[in-house]
Amino acid sequence: MNQSGVRIAGVGHHVPKGILTNADLERMLDTSDEWITTRTGMKERHVATVDVPTSDIALVAARNAIASAGIEAKDLDCVIVATVTPDYQFPATACIVGAKLGIPGVPAFDISIACSGFIYGLTVASSLVRTGVFKRVLLIGAEELSRIINYDDRSTAILFGDGAGAVVIESSEHDSFLSSELGADGSNPKNLYVEVGGTAAGPISAEDIATKRNKVVMNGREVFRFAVTKMIEATNIALERANVAPRDVTWLIPHQANRRIIDAAAKHLDMPPERVVINIDRYGNTSAASIPIALSETVAAGKLKDGDVILFVGFGGGLSWGAVAWRWNGDVKAAFSTNGKAG
Ligand code: ACO
Repeated sequence: MNQSGVRIAGVGHHVPKGILTNADLERMLDTSDEWITTRTGMKERHVATVDVPTSDIALVAARNAIASAGIEAKDLDCVIVATVTPDYQFPATACIVGAKLGIPGVPAFDISIACSGFIYGLTVASSLVRTGVFKRVLLIGAEELSRIINYDDRSTAILFGDGAGAVVIESSEHDSFLSSELGADGSNPKNLYVEVGGTAAGPISAEDIATKRNKVVMNGREVFRFAVTKMIEATNIALERANVAPRDVTWLIPHQANRRIIDAAAKHLDMPPERVVINIDRYGNTSAASIPIALSETVAAGKLKDGDVILFVGFGGGLSWGAVAWRWNGDVKAAFSTNGKAG
């Protein structure tokens, strides 16, 4: 098999234009802007209208990434969508996105590992390219968490938003992929899950829907504890594998789940705040989309320079976690939209 390096050739994102603010949530629930801001760092999140499936916001992000890479959809060899809010139980949302991009026949599959989806996807896509299976892979993190949130539950309703981010990963002489560390532990899946709708709980009933058993349930304190521990562990392992010292990380791009979790991980890495990418105030937790949206915004702001070392790190349902160390190639410009057609 051919061995090659890999690089990100293009990046883009899209968030639907509807916005749910803390003030809106104050009207819906027993909560306050002050509580949400101090406990999470969130101010607002974007929410897609009900007629817009995940594949539509994924498609806009994908088109932006394709434009950013200066290629056409027909130049792609594979489409991967990381999501836990797919259009259908099956087929994979990646198949739908491929068809909407006008490239039926190109292999496509989903990765379902919640908020760790982009980290897993970046590892899988890079491996497929580095081993010569594909030359160019489109990786999208896309979620409409708003569809599976119980807006009567103040402990989860405030956290999540919708959005999509995408990268084009292609073979390259130089290798941007430095290392990866992935993990999962399904011993206590109910710490963060949707109870019904799968095969474990039997057919979904009218009562399930009335009692919101088809919506996200989370043990927030447990997930918080786990998140801080695993982000630090995964970071240490990925950096050691990459032979990179924490002080040589130029940018920390973490999953945006809670500002306090990000701050704890950044403190451990001794990263000054200006090198930690945070947009949680504007988007909330967009699960698999949060890291590529944050990357896309950082590129669009012209902050990334050739040779910068990025540490992507995330965690989520599973429970699952991961970190990827990546050396940036400086010739990429991001394309993005906040009010494209989808949303
Ligand atoms: N407004 C006001 N009060 C609230 C709210 C709210 N929105 N939510 C909870 N509270 C109350 C609780 O009822 C509790 O009250 P009590 O003391 O009277 O019982 C009090 O606030 C403290 O509750 P905690 O759960 O201890 O609050 P905490 O400081 O832990 O913050 C939070 C809760 C924000 C959910 C935090 O635990 C957290 O961020 N956890 C991790 C979430 C996360 O990262 N999820 C990842 C999902 S990734 C994926 O795969 C989808």
